[in-house]
Amino acid sequence: MNILAQLDGVELVPLKPDLPFGAEVRGLNREHLEDQAVRSAVNALLVQAGVIYFRGEDTHEMQLEISKCIGELEHFPYPETWVENHPELVEIKYFPDNGTCYEVDGECLGGWVPWHTDLIYTDAINRGGVLRPKQLSQHGGKTGFLDQILAYERLPEELRHRIADLHVVYSPDINLANSRFAGFRQVRFIRGARSFNEIIKRVYQRPLVLHPLVYVQKESGRKVLNFSPGFAQGIYELGGPEGEALLTEVASYCASEDYAYYHAWQPGDMVLWDNWRVLHCATGIPVDEERVMYRTTISGDYKLGRRLRWETGELEKIEI
Ligand SMILES: [Fe+2]
Repeated sequence: MNILAQLDGVELVPLKPDLPFGAEVRGLNREHLEDQAVRSAVNALLVQAGVIYFRGEDTHEMQLEISKCIGELEHFPYPETWVENHPELVEIKYFPDNGTCYEVDGECLGGWVPWHTDLIYTDAINRGGVLRPKQLSQHGGKTGFLDQILAYERLPEELRHRIADLHVVYSPDINLANSRFAGFRQVRFIRGARSFNEIIKRVYQRPLVLHPLVYVQKESGRKVLNFSPGFAQGIYELGGPEGEALLTEVASYCASEDYAYYHAWQPGDMVLWDNWRVLHCATGIPVDEERVMYRTTISGDYKLGRRLRWETGELEKIEI
Protein backbone atom coordinates (compact mmCIF):
# COMPACT_ATOMS: atom_id res chain seq x y z
CA MET A 1 0.00 0.00 0.00
CA ASN A 2 1.20 3.55 -0.76
CA ILE A 3 2.21 5.32 2.47
CA LEU A 4 0.22 8.43 1.49
CA ALA A 5 -2.88 6.51 2.62
CA GLN A 6 -1.43 6.18 6.14
CA LEU A 7 -0.60 9.85 6.77
CA ASP A 8 -2.61 11.77 9.36
CA GLY A 9 -5.30 13.88 7.70
CA VAL A 10 -4.58 12.44 4.23
CA GLU A 11 -6.97 10.34 2.15
CA LEU A 12 -6.02 8.38 -0.96
CA VAL A 13 -8.94 7.35 -3.20
CA PRO A 14 -9.49 6.42 -6.87
CA LEU A 15 -9.87 9.38 -9.21
CA LYS A 16 -13.26 8.13 -10.38
CA PRO A 17 -15.14 4.85 -9.79
CA ASP A 18 -14.55 2.36 -12.62
CA LEU A 19 -11.69 4.39 -14.10
CA PRO A 20 -8.63 2.13 -14.25
CA PHE A 21 -6.11 4.98 -13.95
CA GLY A 22 -5.68 8.05 -11.76
CA ALA A 23 -5.77 8.73 -8.01
CA GLU A 24 -7.05 11.47 -5.72
CA VAL A 25 -5.07 12.66 -2.68
CA ARG A 26 -6.91 14.83 -0.18
CA GLY A 27 -5.32 16.85 2.63
CA LEU A 28 -1.62 16.66 1.67
CA ASN A 29 0.34 19.78 2.64
CA ARG A 30 3.90 21.12 2.49
CA GLU A 31 4.69 19.82 5.97
CA HIS A 32 4.03 16.26 4.77
CA LEU A 33 6.38 16.89 1.84
CA GLU A 34 9.31 17.63 4.16
CA ASP A 35 9.58 13.84 4.59
CA GLN A 36 11.58 12.26 1.74
CA ALA A 37 9.55 9.03 2.07
CA VAL A 38 6.36 10.99 1.34
CA ARG A 39 7.95 12.64 -1.69
CA SER A 40 8.99 9.20 -2.98
CA ALA A 41 5.44 7.94 -2.39
CA VAL A 42 4.04 10.76 -4.57
CA ASN A 43 6.48 9.71 -7.30
CA ALA A 44 5.54 6.03 -6.98
CA LEU A 45 1.84 6.89 -7.11
CA LEU A 46 2.36 8.87 -10.32
CA VAL A 47 4.16 5.95 -11.95
CA GLN A 48 1.35 3.62 -10.94
CA ALA A 49 -1.67 5.88 -11.59
CA GLY A 50 -0.55 8.38 -14.30
CA VAL A 51 -2.71 11.24 -12.96
CA ILE A 52 -3.05 12.55 -9.38
CA TYR A 53 -5.70 15.04 -8.30
CA PHE A 54 -4.73 16.92 -5.11
CA ARG A 55 -7.09 18.82 -2.86
CA GLY A 56 -5.43 20.58 0.07
CA GLU A 57 -2.94 23.41 0.28
CA ASP A 58 -3.37 25.84 -2.61
CA THR A 59 -0.23 27.97 -3.08
CA HIS A 60 2.52 28.53 -5.67
CA GLU A 61 4.90 26.88 -3.18
CA MET A 62 2.78 23.72 -2.87
CA GLN A 63 2.43 23.49 -6.66
CA LEU A 64 6.23 23.77 -7.01
CA GLU A 65 6.92 21.26 -4.19
CA ILE A 66 4.57 18.62 -5.63
CA SER A 67 6.28 19.07 -8.99
CA LYS A 68 9.73 18.67 -7.42
CA CYS A 69 8.70 15.29 -5.95
CA ILE A 70 8.86 14.05 -9.55
CA GLY A 71 11.89 15.95 -10.87
CA GLU A 72 13.65 19.25 -11.37
CA LEU A 73 11.65 22.08 -12.88
CA GLU A 74 12.53 23.53 -16.24
CA HIS A 75 11.63 26.79 -17.92
CA PHE A 76 9.04 26.34 -20.67
CA PRO A 77 10.71 27.29 -23.98
CA TYR A 78 8.42 30.29 -24.56
CA PRO A 79 9.21 33.21 -22.16
CA GLU A 80 5.99 34.92 -23.27
CA THR A 81 4.13 32.51 -20.97
CA TRP A 82 6.25 32.81 -17.79
CA VAL A 83 4.73 34.14 -14.56
CA GLU A 84 6.51 37.30 -13.36
CA ASN A 85 9.16 36.41 -10.72
CA HIS A 86 8.29 32.69 -11.16
CA PRO A 87 9.75 31.56 -14.52
CA GLU A 88 9.22 27.93 -13.48
CA LEU A 89 5.46 28.61 -13.66
CA VAL A 90 3.64 29.45 -16.87
CA GLU A 91 0.24 31.05 -17.22
CA ILE A 92 -2.12 29.44 -19.68
CA LYS A 93 -4.66 32.17 -20.21
CA TYR A 94 -7.59 33.15 -22.29
CA PHE A 95 -9.09 36.64 -22.36
CA PRO A 96 -11.68 37.77 -24.91
CA ASP A 97 -9.31 40.51 -26.13
CA ASN A 98 -6.18 38.36 -25.88
CA GLY A 99 -6.85 34.69 -26.45
CA THR A 100 -6.50 31.96 -29.06
CA CYS A 101 -9.80 30.84 -30.63
CA TYR A 102 -10.74 27.98 -32.88
CA GLU A 103 -14.02 26.97 -34.46
CA VAL A 104 -14.46 23.31 -33.51
CA ASP A 105 -17.31 21.46 -35.24
CA GLY A 106 -19.03 24.82 -35.77
CA GLU A 107 -18.57 26.09 -32.18
CA CYS A 108 -16.19 28.98 -31.36
CA LEU A 109 -14.01 28.07 -28.38
CA GLY A 110 -11.39 30.04 -26.47
CA GLY A 111 -8.33 28.13 -25.26
CA TRP A 112 -9.29 24.87 -26.94
CA VAL A 113 -6.44 22.34 -27.28
CA PRO A 114 -6.88 18.81 -28.71
CA TRP A 115 -5.42 15.64 -27.17
CA HIS A 116 -1.66 16.06 -26.96
CA THR A 117 1.58 15.46 -25.11
CA ASP A 118 3.33 18.64 -23.94
CA LEU A 119 6.58 19.43 -25.80
CA ILE A 120 6.13 16.41 -28.13
CA TYR A 121 7.49 18.76 -30.82
CA THR A 122 10.91 18.71 -29.11
CA ASP A 123 13.34 15.80 -28.85
CA ALA A 124 13.18 15.81 -25.02
CA ILE A 125 9.59 15.54 -23.81
CA ASN A 126 9.17 16.88 -20.26
CA ARG A 127 8.31 14.40 -17.50
CA GLY A 128 5.04 16.03 -16.48
CA GLY A 129 3.38 19.07 -14.98
CA VAL A 130 1.06 20.33 -12.27
CA LEU A 131 -1.95 22.42 -13.31
CA ARG A 132 -3.82 24.72 -10.93
CA PRO A 133 -6.49 27.33 -11.59
CA LYS A 134 -5.92 31.04 -11.02
CA GLN A 135 -9.19 32.21 -12.56
CA LEU A 136 -11.98 29.92 -13.74
CA SER A 137 -14.59 30.50 -16.42
CA GLN A 138 -18.34 30.26 -15.78
CA HIS A 139 -18.77 27.55 -18.42
CA GLY A 140 -16.59 24.82 -19.94
CA GLY A 141 -12.87 24.87 -19.24
CA LYS A 142 -12.41 21.19 -18.38
CA THR A 143 -9.09 19.39 -18.80
CA GLY A 144 -9.21 15.86 -20.19
CA PHE A 145 -6.74 13.04 -19.43
CA LEU A 146 -6.32 9.72 -21.27
CA ASP A 147 -4.03 6.86 -20.25
CA GLN A 148 -1.88 5.51 -23.08
CA ILE A 149 -0.88 2.31 -21.28
CA LEU A 150 -4.56 1.35 -21.35
CA ALA A 151 -4.77 2.53 -24.97
CA TYR A 152 -1.96 0.15 -25.91
CA GLU A 153 -3.73 -2.71 -24.12
CA ARG A 154 -6.85 -2.04 -26.24
CA LEU A 155 -4.98 -2.38 -29.56
CA PRO A 156 -5.67 -5.53 -31.59
CA GLU A 157 -2.65 -7.82 -31.74
CA GLU A 158 -2.15 -7.30 -35.48
CA LEU A 159 -2.13 -3.51 -35.07
CA ARG A 160 0.42 -3.78 -32.25
CA HIS A 161 2.57 -5.80 -34.63
CA ARG A 162 2.27 -3.25 -37.48
CA ILE A 163 3.29 -0.25 -35.36
CA ALA A 164 5.97 -1.92 -33.23
CA ASP A 165 9.00 -0.27 -34.86
CA LEU A 166 7.47 2.90 -36.32
CA HIS A 167 8.05 6.58 -35.46
CA VAL A 168 5.80 9.63 -35.69
CA VAL A 169 6.96 13.00 -37.07
CA TYR A 170 5.89 16.04 -35.02
CA SER A 171 5.82 19.69 -36.01
CA PRO A 172 6.33 22.71 -33.71
CA ASP A 173 3.38 24.44 -35.42
CA ILE A 174 1.21 25.67 -32.53
CA ASN A 175 -1.70 26.38 -34.89
CA LEU A 176 -3.62 23.26 -33.93
CA ALA A 177 -6.00 23.57 -36.86
CA ASN A 178 -2.99 22.18 -38.77
CA SER A 179 -2.90 19.03 -36.61
CA ARG A 180 -4.16 16.39 -39.01
CA PHE A 181 -5.12 13.87 -36.35
CA ALA A 182 -6.71 16.22 -33.79
CA GLY A 183 -9.67 14.13 -32.75
CA PHE A 184 -11.56 13.75 -36.04
CA ARG A 185 -13.08 17.20 -35.72
CA GLN A 186 -13.51 20.06 -38.15
CA VAL A 187 -11.17 22.69 -36.74
CA ARG A 188 -10.66 26.22 -38.09
CA PHE A 189 -8.23 28.76 -36.67
CA ILE A 190 -9.93 32.08 -35.85
CA ARG A 191 -7.34 34.20 -34.03
CA GLY A 192 -4.24 33.92 -31.85
CA ALA A 193 -3.41 35.40 -28.45
CA ARG A 194 -0.54 37.92 -28.46
CA SER A 195 1.89 35.24 -27.17
CA PHE A 196 0.65 32.82 -29.88
CA ASN A 197 1.31 35.42 -32.56
CA GLU A 198 4.89 35.95 -31.30
CA ILE A 199 5.68 32.26 -30.85
CA ILE A 200 4.38 31.22 -34.26
CA LYS A 201 6.70 33.69 -36.02
CA ARG A 202 9.57 31.41 -34.92
CA VAL A 203 7.92 28.17 -36.10
CA TYR A 204 10.50 27.51 -38.85
CA GLN A 205 13.40 27.98 -36.44
CA ARG A 206 12.57 24.65 -34.81
CA PRO A 207 13.23 21.27 -36.42
CA LEU A 208 10.73 18.49 -36.99
CA VAL A 209 11.21 15.68 -34.47
CA LEU A 210 10.41 11.99 -34.23
CA HIS A 211 9.22 9.81 -31.37
CA PRO A 212 8.61 6.04 -31.34
CA LEU A 213 4.95 4.99 -31.52
CA VAL A 214 5.49 2.50 -28.73
CA TYR A 215 7.86 2.55 -25.80
CA VAL A 216 8.19 0.77 -22.47
CA GLN A 217 7.63 2.42 -19.08
CA LYS A 218 10.92 1.55 -17.46
CA GLU A 219 9.62 1.23 -13.87
CA SER A 220 6.90 -1.31 -14.74
CA GLY A 221 7.71 -2.82 -18.16
CA ARG A 222 4.27 -1.78 -19.42
CA LYS A 223 4.02 -0.61 -23.04
CA VAL A 224 2.77 2.89 -23.81
CA LEU A 225 1.00 3.93 -27.02
CA ASN A 226 3.22 6.98 -27.48
CA PHE A 227 1.13 9.04 -29.87
CA SER A 228 0.07 12.69 -29.53
CA PRO A 229 -2.69 13.55 -32.04
CA GLY A 230 -1.89 17.26 -31.51
CA PHE A 231 1.29 18.23 -33.45
CA ALA A 232 1.52 14.87 -35.32
CA GLN A 233 2.34 15.06 -39.02
CA GLY A 234 2.66 11.42 -40.08
CA ILE A 235 4.65 8.22 -39.84
CA TYR A 236 8.35 8.60 -40.63
CA GLU A 237 8.75 5.17 -42.19
CA LEU A 238 5.44 5.28 -44.07
CA GLY A 239 4.55 8.56 -45.78
CA GLY A 240 1.46 9.10 -47.94
CA PRO A 241 -2.04 7.61 -47.73
CA GLU A 242 -0.95 4.27 -46.25
CA GLY A 243 0.79 5.95 -43.30
CA GLU A 244 -2.08 8.40 -42.85
CA ALA A 245 -4.63 5.56 -42.74
CA LEU A 246 -2.52 3.67 -40.20
CA LEU A 247 -2.10 6.69 -37.94
CA THR A 248 -5.82 7.47 -38.18
CA GLU A 249 -6.52 3.94 -37.01
CA VAL A 250 -4.07 4.33 -34.11
CA ALA A 251 -5.64 7.70 -33.19
CA SER A 252 -9.05 6.06 -32.89
CA TYR A 253 -7.69 3.92 -30.04
CA CYS A 254 -5.55 6.48 -28.25
CA ALA A 255 -8.13 9.30 -28.27
CA SER A 256 -11.16 7.17 -27.41
CA GLU A 257 -13.48 9.36 -25.32
CA ASP A 258 -14.96 6.31 -23.57
CA TYR A 259 -11.82 6.00 -21.47
CA ALA A 260 -11.16 9.69 -20.76
CA TYR A 261 -11.27 11.52 -17.44
CA TYR A 262 -12.42 15.16 -17.65
CA HIS A 263 -11.51 17.32 -14.69
CA ALA A 264 -14.07 20.03 -13.83
CA TRP A 265 -11.92 22.54 -11.92
CA GLN A 266 -12.70 24.08 -8.54
CA PRO A 267 -10.56 26.67 -6.75
CA GLY A 268 -7.88 24.86 -4.73
CA ASP A 269 -7.47 21.92 -7.13
CA MET A 270 -4.15 20.74 -8.48
CA VAL A 271 -3.61 17.97 -11.00
CA LEU A 272 -0.27 16.27 -11.63
CA TRP A 273 0.09 14.12 -14.73
CA ASP A 274 2.72 11.88 -16.27
CA ASN A 275 3.41 13.47 -19.65
CA TRP A 276 5.28 10.37 -20.83
CA ARG A 277 2.19 8.24 -20.56
CA VAL A 278 -1.01 10.36 -20.35
CA LEU A 279 -2.51 12.59 -23.06
CA HIS A 280 -4.35 15.74 -22.04
CA CYS A 281 -6.68 18.23 -23.73
CA ALA A 282 -8.49 21.49 -22.99
CA THR A 283 -12.19 21.56 -23.87
CA GLY A 284 -12.14 25.37 -24.24
CA ILE A 285 -14.52 28.05 -22.99
CA PRO A 286 -17.05 30.48 -24.51
CA VAL A 287 -15.09 33.19 -26.33
CA ASP A 288 -16.49 36.01 -24.14
CA GLU A 289 -15.30 34.43 -20.84
CA GLU A 290 -11.90 34.48 -19.09
CA ARG A 291 -9.72 31.67 -17.71
CA VAL A 292 -6.16 31.54 -16.33
CA MET A 293 -4.27 28.41 -15.22
CA TYR A 294 -0.82 28.02 -13.67
CA ARG A 295 1.31 25.12 -14.90
CA THR A 296 4.75 23.79 -14.00
CA THR A 297 7.05 21.98 -16.42
CA ILE A 298 8.80 19.02 -14.75
CA SER A 299 12.09 18.26 -16.44
CA GLY A 300 13.15 14.92 -17.87
CA ASP A 301 14.07 13.11 -21.05
CA TYR A 302 13.09 9.56 -21.97
CA LYS A 303 15.92 9.73 -24.53
CA LEU A 304 13.95 8.37 -27.48
CA GLY A 305 13.29 11.64 -29.34
CA ARG A 306 15.22 12.46 -32.51
CA ARG A 307 15.61 15.63 -34.54
CA LEU A 308 15.14 15.39 -38.28
CA ARG A 309 17.97 17.07 -40.19
CA TRP A 310 16.67 19.19 -43.02
CA GLU A 311 19.89 18.93 -45.06
CA THR A 312 20.01 15.15 -45.23
CA GLY A 313 16.57 13.94 -44.16
CA GLU A 314 18.39 11.73 -41.66
CA LEU A 315 17.96 11.43 -37.94
CA GLU A 316 20.38 13.27 -35.73
CA LYS A 317 22.06 10.81 -33.43
CA ILE A 318 21.55 11.40 -29.75
CA GLU A 319 23.44 9.57 -27.04
CA ILE A 320 21.26 7.07 -25.17
FE1 LIG B 1 -0.68 20.88 -22.69
